[in-house]
Amino acid sequence: MSNLLWQKAGVAVDADIQRFLAGDDVILDREFILHDIQASRAHAEGLQRIGILTQQELDVLSAELADLAADIERGGFVLDARFEDMHSAIEHRLTERLGDIGKKIHTGRSRNDQVLVATRLWLKAKLGEVAVVCREVAAIALERAETEADIAMPGYTHLQRAVVSSAGMWWTGWAEAFIDNAERALQTRDWVDANPLGTAAGYGVNLPLERTHTTQALAFGRMQVSPLYAQLSRGKFEMAALETLGSAMLDLRRIAWDLSLFTTAEFDFVRLPAQFTTGSSIMPNKRNPDVIELMRAAYASVAAARTEIEQLMSLPSGYHRDLQFGKGGLVHGFSRGLGALRLLPSLMQALEWKPERMRAALDPSMYATDLAVDLARQGMPFRDAYREAADPARWAEGDPAASLAARVSPGASGAALNEVLKARLAALGQP
Ligand code: ARG
Repeated sequence: MSNLLWQKAGVAVDADIQRFLAGDDVILDREFILHDIQASRAHAEGLQRIGILTQQELDVLSAELADLAADIERGGFVLDARFEDMHSAIEHRLTERLGDIGKKIHTGRSRNDQVLVATRLWLKAKLGEVAVVCREVAAIALERAETEADIAMPGYTHLQRAVVSSAGMWWTGWAEAFIDNAERALQTRDWVDANPLGTAAGYGVNLPLERTHTTQALAFGRMQVSPLYAQLSRGKFEMAALETLGSAMLDLRRIAWDLSLFTTAEFDFVRLPAQFTTGSSIMPNKRNPDVIELMRAAYASVAAARTEIEQLMSLPSGYHRDLQFGKGGLVHGFSRGLGALRLLPSLMQALEWKPERMRAALDPSMYATDLAVDLARQGMPFRDAYREAADPARWAEGDPAASLAARVSPGASGAALNEVLKARLAALGQP
């Protein structure tokens, strides 16, 4: 390992203990290092503005930071256990190449505010991606809601056939859900969009750092004012981001559940795109919906990450190394969650209904509720109408498909409501 930034002369570092301290942290830092470099450039600019660095020193540092970023992007520099963490790796590179100028970069900052700023920048990008995918899902669902309003299918409660519904109603439900999810991702991104850089170890620093400059340079919406709160908010903003991702994943989990039911021979309502199925190693006849099962399972990683961070936050105020252990879950949760979510648009685009099978699953009893309401509309007290409509002989009179049309126009999947959703979708803009 390269020299530890904090090593004291004459005090040996135990290799096992060092391995425990660093753990997989430096490998996880690969996710964040470009953001740490970006923040380092902004910090260096800030140092120049208050006379700690000359313009020439700033230029040299900026060029070297850009070089390091380019090396990372083309694989010429790989962050690994030679370094304690990404912060040390960056300073090591600057010092190795630039000598005394490199040694100036850490003036007025701490790894504590570095990790905070890198994580917030990373999360802003990830939440933007969540919003983009959710918006795409909503757009596809809304389009299919319009074209498939007439594909009738059972509406279930308790997994029992209840009333006549339609593919359009199914789609409208997901359209609205994913508009909510996209909005929430943007709101959470706004909440995370605060600059902690310049708060140092959690108690500020005795330099007139121009925090408004780094806030603008890093395109943050606002700055975190209290250095102590900048530290206290670690964990909270990661949890909020995971909850937001989790809210989309909860909907994804239910879609996946529906589809794994609908593709069984017992339901047989849906044909999955071939790429979303796999085979069995022993049973030559099988086509298994493995992909949607893993999409469903991904929620567990997101929820686990949130819980892990919550557990780690049982701490007094100030920085504590415990918080480092939140990084693994965060990276893993977002990788699993976004990995699953990114597959959803193509799944939604490509899934094919089997309308004749869906229609065959309708039975006359599913007209009973509509019949009761029709009788009530004609003036019969609803409880009496309900009893009338419980008589199977009455169901035969009705046409379930016609009763569906009466319910959805301009009701749940009807044109008027879809207009409301279209307006909300448009208001999201390009996240
Ligand atoms: N890897 C550390 C973390 O994630 C970086 C900050 C280290 N700070 C310290 N005071 N030891 O928290």
